[in-house]
Amino acid sequence: MKRLVGFQYRADGLYCEGVRLADLAARYGTPLYVYSAGVIRDRYRRLSAAFAALRPRLYYAVKANANLSLLKLLKDEGAGFDVVSGGELARALAAGADPARVVFAGVGKTEAELTEALAARIGWFNAESADELARLNALASAAGRRPRVALRLNPDVEPDTHPHVRTGGGRSKFGFPLDEALSLLRSWDRFPALDLGGVHLHIGSQLADPAATLRALDVALDVIARDPRLTVLDLGGGFPVPYRESDAYPSIEAFAAPIVAKLGAWLGRLTFHLEPGRYLMAEAGALVTTVQAVKIMAGRRVVVVDTGLHHLLRPALYNAYHRVLPLARAAPAGVPADVVGPICESSDVLARERRLPELRPGEGLALMEAGAYGFSMASQYNAQVRPAEVLVTGEGARLIRRRETYAELMAPERECLDA
Ligand code: LLP
Repeated sequence: MKRLVGFQYRADGLYCEGVRLADLAARYGTPLYVYSAGVIRDRYRRLSAAFAALRPRLYYAVKANANLSLLKLLKDEGAGFDVVSGGELARALAAGADPARVVFAGVGKTEAELTEALAARIGWFNAESADELARLNALASAAGRRPRVALRLNPDVEPDTHPHVRTGGGRSKFGFPLDEALSLLRSWDRFPALDLGGVHLHIGSQLADPAATLRALDVALDVIARDPRLTVLDLGGGFPVPYRESDAYPSIEAFAAPIVAKLGAWLGRLTFHLEPGRYLMAEAGALVTTVQAVKIMAGRRVVVVDTGLHHLLRPALYNAYHRVLPLARAAPAGVPADVVGPICESSDVLARERRLPELRPGEGLALMEAGAYGFSMASQYNAQVRPAEVLVTGEGARLIRRRETYAELMAPERECLDA
């Protein structure tokens, strides 16, 4: 029998693999992020298989979820890391990453961050401005180093996704416009300490289909064809996952197929990089919460829980949809309800007009598909501590981040109080 991975109902409630979520809530308290190691590994292997013909190198986009134990799990699967800050680099290294398997992206890398990445001897700098190139060139030359650099191209394509997570359009802040990239290639002598080697693309997240990626690839391949120094093509991330029951995004296999077909002919010359974030993590995580109060407001049922936009910002920021499942056995649907958090903002609504059973204080709920951009975007707003995190593996559940304390919230200020 195929071992069940991920989240499913059994007779006595909602499980993550072999562990009942209500038992985890009792043991560790809520709010609690729960992750399935089986789902992460499954998605890593499916993505690798879908692109296998290109023999890609996978760099997990750390921003999706930067927990050290999850980074280590992915490193053990063979992943490198895509980082966008000195902090993410420090996390990847702390998880045991091989620095040569780290790529550094981002529009605003500071001198300090570039220095840290040079000292760590990371694999690739994905550069986004001429000013960054000049700064990196000066730092590298002073350090007697010659780092490998890819140019992030702005291909001027608008993918079909939420406007907040489109990065490929000509009016966005990301990458080099085509004409500037071409002129930099012609005048690369200005950067003798930089080993030019590749082109980087990342046009957006949660891409509805591969069409925009294929258009962006035409732009990138045209640049690559003009310059034999370019031997790496980094395709970025953006692979979609379903959030709504009705979502019909292409599978990773269907998304990859036309890309693999287009790039196959370049295999002799190019090495391919991928930077998946959401695809590996979103469906692996749930945010478990406890009902605090239920009230009727203007005929609408309002369910107040112990988590909110401070722990899962996506609904407030992108109007994102996360399924809400009761931890007890799936009950017949009741009247539509809004699920809201404790934060003093009207935008602190996690789910609107959902058919949920009648709930009472103390009952548990799970916000699903919360593994990517959930904890990593969490804050301590309203002086709330962030959730604890638990990883479920074949062996059971283990804490991978204990809950913060009030003392930890205040520590950096307390040491200044009487100074
Ligand atoms: N590479 C680069 C350079 C990126 O900027 C990103 C994501 C990725 C890779 C990974 O993309 P993914 O495979 O996860 O789609 N907070 C938003 C998503 C922001 C994505 C930012 N960049 C959300 O919650 O939907």
